[in-house]
Amino acid sequence: MSQEPRERWSGRTGFVLAAIGSAVGLGNMWRFSYLTAEYGGAAFVLLYIAFTILIGIPILLAELAIGRGAARSPISALDHFGGGAWKAGGIWFVASGFLILSYYSVIAGWTLRYTLNALIGGFEPDTGAHFDAVSQGTGAVVGHLVFMGATSLIVSRGIKAGIERTSLVLMPLLFALVCGLAIYAYTLEGGREGYAFYLETDFSKILDAQVFSTAAGQAFFSLSLGMGAMMTYASYVSPQQHLPNESLVIGGADFVIAFVAGLVVFPLIFALGLSADVSESTLGALFITLPKAFAMMGLAGQAVGFLFFAALVIGALTSAISLLEVVVASAIDTLGWSRLRSTLVFGGAIALLGIPPALNINILDWMDKLAGQLFLVAGGLLLAIFVGWVMKDPFSEVRKGAEHVAWFPLWRFLLRYPIPLVLAVVLYFSVRKLFFD
Ligand code: PFF
Repeated sequence: MSQEPRERWSGRTGFVLAAIGSAVGLGNMWRFSYLTAEYGGAAFVLLYIAFTILIGIPILLAELAIGRGAARSPISALDHFGGGAWKAGGIWFVASGFLILSYYSVIAGWTLRYTLNALIGGFEPDTGAHFDAVSQGTGAVVGHLVFMGATSLIVSRGIKAGIERTSLVLMPLLFALVCGLAIYAYTLEGGREGYAFYLETDFSKILDAQVFSTAAGQAFFSLSLGMGAMMTYASYVSPQQHLPNESLVIGGADFVIAFVAGLVVFPLIFALGLSADVSESTLGALFITLPKAFAMMGLAGQAVGFLFFAALVIGALTSAISLLEVVVASAIDTLGWSRLRSTLVFGGAIALLGIPPALNINILDWMDKLAGQLFLVAGGLLLAIFVGWVMKDPFSEVRKGAEHVAWFPLWRFLLRYPIPLVLAVVLYFSVRKLFFD
């Protein structure tokens, strides 16, 4: 066990901004818009909202309760409330953090490269060729390593001086950037069709198992759930804080940013007549179609593109920090290592694991599917069972700092019955799709 006393956030704002920083990231801007495009627009958005409210927020509150109650990172926290056998669950979480950060950092490296390119020379017209060059190979490895270096540096400085301070500066900036870009996109002529694509619902699409499980996975990914990131952040929270309210604020902010990012991406693409590219959307769409729009817009495009990719870098950084913190805090709590040693060893190991996806985009695509549709959903199922059935009195933990909350009984009910059921179905479809199709 580590000898040092546990650090705390300096107050409510520090924790909430750091947690929103974890939630808001590439998932909101890159993943949300490419999945929305791939799965037919508004129907996907609607399902995603439903999953966020009915599954995401309850699981988020579950993670916050476990984390604050145990004041430990996931492996020790599950052990604390559930007994030694549950350590395996914590190890699963840490493994998810490892896996996700290793390829997440590669994509963050692309965004870094695009931001610099925008600053120096603007966007090249042949964006497909440019993406191929940037996304795989030595350049991608370098971008990934630089990004992992920055992430490790911040985490090595600890909760207050590293993570909290970074979030306090970067999160307001990110909000301002995304909202400013959405207002700009609104002024573009011809962007209306983009809104229509994004917001007009075709209910028939919702009944598709594939759309269903992808939307569930995306809700987990976007809220940083199912792998103990929120649990770890909550372990530094004081007992006076009102966890149910925090879960609503974090979930709300995450959704608003994802939604507003869509209000940037789709009008821009449609205004410049690039909608055909959208329907063939894949993982690279944001990095190919949007830069094409920016390249067509001349100097204005260079400025807007720079701001857009800078927002992506910021979002990615504050999320990556939380991913690494899960692994580092676990090493501190279970191995008794110092923060610096944990960061160096595990940051380094994740940097190595990121090299294959940096060299080959198919590996990256596969890792992303594995994480988003399998690891996080399985982690969510485990959490629902844990708080719904195993933890003795989860209410007593959430009640600290929050005497009466009308939706407590609903929360436990959702965690006990509907959520495990829905997640088991989602998991079934995901496994079938990933391994047997
Ligand atoms: N929520 C982050 C995003 O939307 O980009 C990604 C993420 C961070 C997932 C932390 C999981 C996690 F634990």
